[in-house]
Amino acid sequence: MTHANVPVLIGQDALHDRIHTLAAEIRRDLPSEDLHFVCVLKGAFMFLSDLIRAMSGTVTIDFMALASYGGGKSSSGEVKLLKDLDKGLQGRDVIIIEDIVDTGLTLNYLQEILRARGPKTLRTACLLSKPSRRLVDVGVDYIGFSIEDRFVVGYGLDYAEQYRNLPYIGILQ
Ligand code: IMP
Ligand code: MG
Repeated sequence: MTHANVPVLIGQDALHDRIHTLAAEIRRDLPSEDLHFVCVLKGAFMFLSDLIRAMSGTVTIDFMALASYGGGKSSSGEVKLLKDLDKGLQGRDVIIIEDIVDTGLTLNYLQEILRARGPKTLRTACLLSKPSRRLVDVGVDYIGFSIEDRFVVGYGLDYAEQYRNLPYIGILQ
């Protein structure tokens, strides 16, 4: 189903197929039993939910919430921690799950604070990437789709808290 004002950029079938491929790649790279997914709320919740259901083996999940000051369609680079993880990361194989990497400022900040907590490995999976917008050279190990510089919503991503429930990635015009 297509929301009246939001044309499809990445449809449900393409999301499903790509996420299954990512899940297989992650499991191949990290066969460890103790794979721990850190989901960045709110945007990444749907990606996490589909990704872990496509994973073989045992995984655990935890959530954190960040807010970048500024709101609207661009991030200011100042990031505030709204909700921290329930458990520590010491010695664990951790994968950060993000919805989208744009300037890279949010993810760069997050990787720094999580690395300081002593995980055995720290990797990042982002559903979407806008490479042309990057301001910092942040490492992303798994990228679902690289997209042009368009503001996208749906499949967890919002504009002013709306559109998260769209089952596809659409372009906000
Ligand atoms: P960055 O710090 O500029 O990389 O921004 C990352 C955050 O900005 C993402 O986690 C999203 O919450 C938000 N964001 C960036 N681009 C978009 C977009 O096209 N749609 C929805 N949210 C976006
Ligand atoms: Mg986000």
